[in-house]
Amino acid sequence: MTLQSRHLLGLEGVSREEITLILDTSESFKEILQRPIPKVPTLRGKTVVNLFFEPSTRTRISFELAEKRLTADTVNFTTSSSSVKKGETLKDTIRNIEAMNIDMVVVRHSAAGTPLFLTRCVDAAVINAGDGMHEHPTQALLDMLTIRERIGKIAGLKVALIGDIAHSRVAGSNIRGLLTMGAEVMLCGPKTLMPMFVERFGVHVTFHLEEALEWADCLNVLRIQLERQDKGLFPSIREYHKLYGITLERLEQAKRDVVILHPGPINRGVELDSDVADSDYSVILNQVTNGVAVRMAVLYLLSGGNPSIE
Ligand code: CP
Repeated sequence: MTLQSRHLLGLEGVSREEITLILDTSESFKEILQRPIPKVPTLRGKTVVNLFFEPSTRTRISFELAEKRLTADTVNFTTSSSSVKKGETLKDTIRNIEAMNIDMVVVRHSAAGTPLFLTRCVDAAVINAGDGMHEHPTQALLDMLTIRERIGKIAGLKVALIGDIAHSRVAGSNIRGLLTMGAEVMLCGPKTLMPMFVERFGVHVTFHLEEALEWADCLNVLRIQLERQDKGLFPSIREYHKLYGITLERLEQAKRDVVILHPGPINRGVELDSDVADSDYSVILNQVTNGVAVRMAVLYLLSGGNPSIE
């Protein structure tokens, strides 16, 4: 079994078998990451370019670590120190980089569709590390790995995504991936932060946090993305926290043993209180750890790797 596409642009159209293959391969890489020398020669001779046009801590560092653990040669591109500042286009940028013989491109960009556009400009395999408000597939994969690890399954679970759904590429990929894997999904947040035509997604929708807390096995709490919003989508940060902030008091009232995920970066005291983020409910740092293994699995499988890893 291999992946159908030579790119990972999103989880739309990725089958249950393919997602399971990525998660199972990630588990094998997790075992390798625990060895005294956490490195394999799987991508020796391959060159990967990390093309980040938007800020990132977790995704950029974990892709870079994953590439190094697989012995790939890596190059990091950031807009601020590139010729994009002199007006060079995205197409010229990527074609010039490819002229130096690269095999894979990891790209993050504020415009949805940038990874797809790049597949039409270059022969290299393209991995989406987050495109605008569209998809962030490796984030959803690491979220699903973390859920599977903590609870033992994904199918049949009830997962609620809380908060700024409309601006969230993490929500876009989680909805697609979780539904494909047989989970039930609920979206919870203010009406102004819900996507248009949300009922078409095949998910439950609520505007009341208490309903989501009573229903869910897992809460994936999303960051309020002030940088992607027009002003006035909710009255104030204080009011948002009052209605949708995840607090210990609310979790204890719900009397359910929920698992709390957050893709990061966290706005502490806004969508999630510090004492919840740092509590036993939280698997947030497990998500970050799993990010390296998931990205190793994706790089490996897209480079044509055989699923059995030595
Ligand atoms: N979760 C996530 O994409 O975080 P970064 O923006 O730090 O990469």
